[in-house]
Amino acid sequence: MLIAQISDCHIRRPGDVAFGRVDTATCLERCVACVNGLSPRPDIAVITGDLVDSAESVEYRNLRRLLDRLAMPYYLIPGNHDGREGMREVFRDHLYLFEHSDWIQYEIPGFPLRVLMLDTLVPGEESGMMDAPRLAWLEARLASAPQQPTMIFMHHPPFDTGVADMDRIKCQGTDGLARLLACHPQVLKISCGHVHRAVQAMWAGKPVWVAPSSAHQIALDLNAERVPAQYVLEPSGFLLHLWRADLGVVTHYCVADRYPGPYPFE
Ligand SMILES: [Fe+2]
Ligand SMILES: [Fe+2]
Repeated sequence: MLIAQISDCHIRRPGDVAFGRVDTATCLERCVACVNGLSPRPDIAVITGDLVDSAESVEYRNLRRLLDRLAMPYYLIPGNHDGREGMREVFRDHLYLFEHSDWIQYEIPGFPLRVLMLDTLVPGEESGMMDAPRLAWLEARLASAPQQPTMIFMHHPPFDTGVADMDRIKCQGTDGLARLLACHPQVLKISCGHVHRAVQAMWAGKPVWVAPSSAHQIALDLNAERVPAQYVLEPSGFLLHLWRADLGVVTHYCVADRYPGPYPFE
């Protein structure tokens, strides 16, 4: 099974350029073309939050125009820039968005690797939250299939990256999540967004990835007190998660652009 993870698209209304500099729609267009050009083609794509910039319906309609070009089914979860109402209005045929009235958490069915999508959005807050009701949902899901290899996606990472301004707004309330994961060895990996850089760490005994943004990246700055964060126009990217029974989950960081090659070694 092959999963493409696109994150932090920050789509705006048509023609609107972020910070007067970043054409997030063109960036996503390029990312979608790269994902569609992969061989073998991913089975699904997951879009892990900050889908749009201001949660306006017009932005979600612009997003949909771009994501509908994906050659495989795609699944959405919200980030701190999103609104569940706008997502549900524009993607009303994505029935998984309606499984719970309070959040957008669901399982992607039909694959040997179980994929659980979590909602860490707290309206009006930049940081995320894994509170008791959302955690209870996850606990019940994990308990229902303790033998099935499982991967979790969520927008806000639970761990500190060393980028001070992003760590300030990570996922809160994660002690319960850490305790739950300790009881469930079938969870092979967690992957997030939000930080706009490819980052990887071990947290609660699990490998946790952060996907880069399909648009602008956060500047690499590990000075502990340096805030606010700044953005850079480094190459954008996406993650490709390969699951095989003999491998587990192997994650490849992919640059969302085309380069010369490949060439044979001769
Ligand atoms: Fe973002
Ligand atoms: Fe975010």
